[in-house]
Amino acid sequence: MSELNLKSRYTWGALAMIFAIVGGMTAAFAWTAGLIGTRPTTQALVEQPPPSFPAGFRRAHGKGICFVGAFRADKAAGTLSTARVFSQPTVPVVGRFSIGTGDPHAADSSTNTVSMALLLVTNDQQQWRMAMNNQPYFATRDAQGFLAMQKATAVEPATGKPDPNRLATFLKAYPEAKKFLDWSEQAPSPGSFAGVDFYGVNAFFLVASDGDRQPVRWTMRAHEPFTALGGEQLQMAGHDFLFDDLRQTLSQHPLYWDLVMQLAQPGDPLDDPSQPWPQERKQVVAGTLEVTGVVEQAEGACRDVNFDPSIVPAGIEVSDDPVLSARSGAYSRSFNMRLSEIGHGKATEAVGKPEEK
Ligand code: HEM
Repeated sequence: MSELNLKSRYTWGALAMIFAIVGGMTAAFAWTAGLIGTRPTTQALVEQPPPSFPAGFRRAHGKGICFVGAFRADKAAGTLSTARVFSQPTVPVVGRFSIGTGDPHAADSSTNTVSMALLLVTNDQQQWRMAMNNQPYFATRDAQGFLAMQKATAVEPATGKPDPNRLATFLKAYPEAKKFLDWSEQAPSPGSFAGVDFYGVNAFFLVASDGDRQPVRWTMRAHEPFTALGGEQLQMAGHDFLFDDLRQTLSQHPLYWDLVMQLAQPGDPLDDPSQPWPQERKQVVAGTLEVTGVVEQAEGACRDVNFDPSIVPAGIEVSDDPVLSARSGAYSRSFNMRLSEIGHGKATEAVGKPEEK
């Protein structure tokens, strides 16, 4: 069977199940697309979804809500990086909370992947963009492995399960994915965005005033305690329980996350987001994010932002992590597709109601 034929056999519903298995990270990647060399094309990473997919929404993490807030740096960060975000007292933030499922109408219980994206703009107009999940590491060492995982974990219509031989072949080629699949299976579903830690997973460099380049990975560490929902509670939870909880909580008080930098030591892998660095590596709190309010994504400033994590200000540099560059291409493609749909007037739902004059 050709790859194209295989592709057309699957429905959007079946896809939802596939992505639930792998943590619901994305919903519109090509799971059988042809790959060129060792690097998948952006077309392979983000395909045109079926006509039933609502126009104007993100091809992954489609269900989300915009938020506003502020970032305040800690003094410690200034010694590691010259980035303006670490010297300006308060930096305004536009962000987005989302769930990993692609379908913008999915139930919040459809995945245990939850996410935070951030855009920090300093008063010299430099930008820092981030997109993080609650997963402490990525599934595979590269994007091609991630596509292979979509294929390997696809549910067979006949059995309702992935093909065990296909899965075994995949795990032989990408043994690092085992710990991610295990994590994904046992990770509790968050009962609220508020207490979730969000991981950057890719490596970056902080550049100090003396030119020192310290490799780091960052995490947004929640001040609120983590709450889990399981079993019957999860089944009984409302369709939008995570977003409803967020609207309700933020109507009463702000929420806070610390930006924690984990400092690599020589030999720690900088080009493989599937390999966490040892727990005992030094951690530095670089600042605190205050989230003060939410705005529905059809109206909020986050709607038209491409949260490409390779966009960093002077004082922060990207690493050679191949997943980082693959993300850049994929996000750009998804962004262009959805903005084109909005621009051509096809996306009335994604842009909300027109303002009354
Ligand atoms: C090969 C790897 C990956 C691919 C191909 C990919 C692809 C995508 C795509 C196409 C989007 C939609 C972008 C848009 O329309 O604006 C997206 C969104 C997102 N991805 Fe990824 N992704 C990858 C890895 C990751 C990783 C490692 C993380 C977390 C560390 C992550 C977190 C997110 C988040 C949080 C969003 C939503 C951003 C927003 O709110 O706009 N992704 N991804």
